[in-house]
Amino acid sequence: MLSGLHLTTDIVRRIERIFESEIEKGLARGSGDPHVSSLQMENTYIPELPNGTEQGQYLALDLGGTNFRVLLLELEHAPDGGRLQDIVVREEVKHYHIPDEMRLGCGRELFDYLAYCLHDFVTDKKVEGALTEFNHNHDGDRHQSPLPLGFTFSFPMEHHSLDVGILVSWTKSFKCSNTVGHDVVKMLREAIERHGDMDVEVEAILNDTTGTLVQGANLDPRTAIGCILGTGSNACYIEKASKVKHWEGDRHGEKEVIIDIEWGAFGDNGVIDFMKTEFDREVDNKSLLVNSFTFEKYISGKYLGEINRTILEKLCREGLLFGGKASEKLLKHDSFSAHFVSLIEGDTIQGITTETEKILKDLGLKYTSDDIKIVQHVCELTSNRAALLVSICLATLLRRMNRPDTTIAVDGSLYKFHPRLKTLMNKYIHLLAPGKKFRLMLAEDGSGKGAALAAAIAKRLRRRLMNET
Ligand code: BGC
Repeated sequence: MLSGLHLTTDIVRRIERIFESEIEKGLARGSGDPHVSSLQMENTYIPELPNGTEQGQYLALDLGGTNFRVLLLELEHAPDGGRLQDIVVREEVKHYHIPDEMRLGCGRELFDYLAYCLHDFVTDKKVEGALTEFNHNHDGDRHQSPLPLGFTFSFPMEHHSLDVGILVSWTKSFKCSNTVGHDVVKMLREAIERHGDMDVEVEAILNDTTGTLVQGANLDPRTAIGCILGTGSNACYIEKASKVKHWEGDRHGEKEVIIDIEWGAFGDNGVIDFMKTEFDREVDNKSLLVNSFTFEKYISGKYLGEINRTILEKLCREGLLFGGKASEKLLKHDSFSAHFVSLIEGDTIQGITTETEKILKDLGLKYTSDDIKIVQHVCELTSNRAALLVSICLATLLRRMNRPDTTIAVDGSLYKFHPRLKTLMNKYIHLLAPGKKFRLMLAEDGSGKGAALAAAIAKRLRRRLMNET
């Protein structure tokens, strides 16, 4: 019953070939062309990474999960063993909860709430440079520029420039009306305007993977891939600008650019359906976004627990687990979280059963020692499959970029808390990209600090362009 969860060498090679070909097709799409690939391969219009000269105050907004964060970072650059490294001299952060009705409600209300939180933050933290009255004198003349802001918006977008991002679709637990097809920066600017009092300039819109890459490069200049393994999953990497057909405006001789793959949607056109098990089909059918985000449903934290729950439920119905008696909790959608998978995997590594038993008891299940072994085995299988699938994609990128040495910056709750993922990924990437030198590096808070750095890069590019013209 579980054999479909094992990926044979043939299947791995097949997925690898398909991923590579979807990348090529995605990159060959011009602006406005129909999507022929399930990979969006979006041009982020960010052609360079931090160079150690970023300084000043930057605001960052981070929207992607149930929490929304507003940050202020003050950067200074300082020599560090011969190279310049950005250092944060002031950092302020505030978290705001986004209730269900707002995540599933009307878009305008969501953006008004973001503007309200931004205002609350700048007044609470006394960020005077972000307020209109502070930046203008009594006659209304400006004596200080608006505070630059980087907006991390961790959903698929079509970029038309550094500060234009058209929402393609919501993912994870968001589904707001009147937003898909609209420019997210415009919606944010209008909401800030409606709120009044604030003097901020949205300089850059970016995805959390881009923020992770930018932040990773700040920590280690060999960084060329940013990857998120959290509630959702995705990656971005540095591509030759000449390979990217989707480009509006002048390229200004750009040689490289960050490409946001949006690999969560890999397979939405059916190209990897051959690896779908009955469990994956059931998880998809019961999800908020049916028939989309196929790949994300195999690997990300939002779905990993539910895959396991679905398998356990099925084994139980077949009389193979818990004496055929499922508890009410086990039958409840989403009652088995990715965190449970991490805890159970932790037990398996140590050869103990403490956390596994605690979880089964909390789920109201009566179990035998064989049941424990089966539950641990299921978590091992699904974790291994997720690690292998992510590794296939990362190895493909390493082979494609063909750099002498690459650091992969990774962030996300699943990566941080799953006790085995990193080891498995290291093993599989080595096997799938033989001879390629790489390392996985945890780059925390790319969606915060990376957004501030991206705003600084955007400002630098704009200044350069103005000097040229
Ligand atoms: C979104 C991506 C994002 C990823 C990680 C996915 O659901 O589509 O844009 O990077 O989650 O947050």
